[in-house]
Amino acid sequence: MEESLYTRLEETPANSYELSLRPPAFSEFCGQEKIKERLLLMVEAARMRDDVLDHILLSGPPGLGKTTLANIIANAVGKKMHTTSGPQIEKAGDLAGILTNVQKGDILFIDEIHRLHPAIEEYLYPAMEDYRLDIIIDQGPNARSIQLNLPKFTLVGATTRAGMLTGPLRSRFGIINRLDYYSADELCHILKRSASLLNVEMSEEGALSIARRSRGTPRVANSLLRWVRDYAQVRANGIITEEVAQQALGMLDIDEDGLDEMDKRLLETMIGKFQGGPVGLSSLAVAVGEDESTIEDVHEPFLIMQGYIKRTPRGREAMPAAYQKLGLITHAKQAELL
Ligand SMILES: Nc1ncnc2c1ncn2[C@@H]1O[C@H](COP(=O)(O)OP(=O)(O)OP(=O)(O)O)[C@@H](O)[C@H]1O
Ligand SMILES: [Mg+2]
Repeated sequence: MEESLYTRLEETPANSYELSLRPPAFSEFCGQEKIKERLLLMVEAARMRDDVLDHILLSGPPGLGKTTLANIIANAVGKKMHTTSGPQIEKAGDLAGILTNVQKGDILFIDEIHRLHPAIEEYLYPAMEDYRLDIIIDQGPNARSIQLNLPKFTLVGATTRAGMLTGPLRSRFGIINRLDYYSADELCHILKRSASLLNVEMSEEGALSIARRSRGTPRVANSLLRWVRDYAQVRANGIITEEVAQQALGMLDIDEDGLDEMDKRLLETMIGKFQGGPVGLSSLAVAVGEDESTIEDVHEPFLIMQGYIKRTPRGREAMPAAYQKLGLITHAKQAELL
């Protein structure tokens, strides 16, 4: 199975390269202006009242800056961030272990919060609302419930699937922020910042070439930059110009609209094998040989945003833009012509 650019990048989400490029403060975090404004306001208000931040949910496709924002929030309030993720918390004891280490005002960051076990979610409710943890120890007739009082803390939850969060959990967040894909301009800014941190010279046009193929995603932009830098070093004089960027990116299987091999394969399959749809996610996943959740989290949101496909109650459908992309005409057009 051929891996997509994204899965390749995803294998090393917290490598030192990514860490070093992660903006540490709101002032260096580019884009998502509305979210930044809201968060800054919350931080300011909490500071004025000498209170703890309300719980915050961050949602959106991978690589848009959820983990980065959680870190920035912790830096802004000057507190420690404790990091865990939904699948990592298997037992109530795991949650108790983390929460008993939390101090007043600290940030508890739960990544992939939609993957929390339902039983753990139940424990989280009183912890979020009343800063109390009721855990049951022992089993059968010896079972006892003990209550732990917790310091006031802030839960920052991140999810690529806000829709999969249960209503009760979602309603316990003071604020829900949905991160959007970045514009080419914003990505250019991010790329320039990264290039200066990496000590590499890059022209405006070079940055734009990379930005255009970054599928609106800073993580992809930074990874492409790293590739173009390598190329510039070996095949050119180390400077990233438009020409160098285009040659370097031409060597990767990403087209000028940022679509990678898997994106194209999805469109080809929908049109070639399923007459443009509607087709169900599971059939599509089997046909292209990719994981359902990767299609749903990574490829689909981008393809939908770009107008290549749409989701209907009966399944996914290819839009005219998809036919154009593949140099085809739509079935409707074809029928019209016959
Ligand atoms: N607004 C931004 N400005 C500058 N760099 C950014 C921005 N957003 C993200 N980045 C860069 O992109 C990388 C990926 O961001 P991050 O890890 O926060 O994404 P994520 O939303 O948590 O993804 P995932 O869902 O895969 O966990 C970061 O290391 C950072 O360098
Ligand atoms: Mg993350």
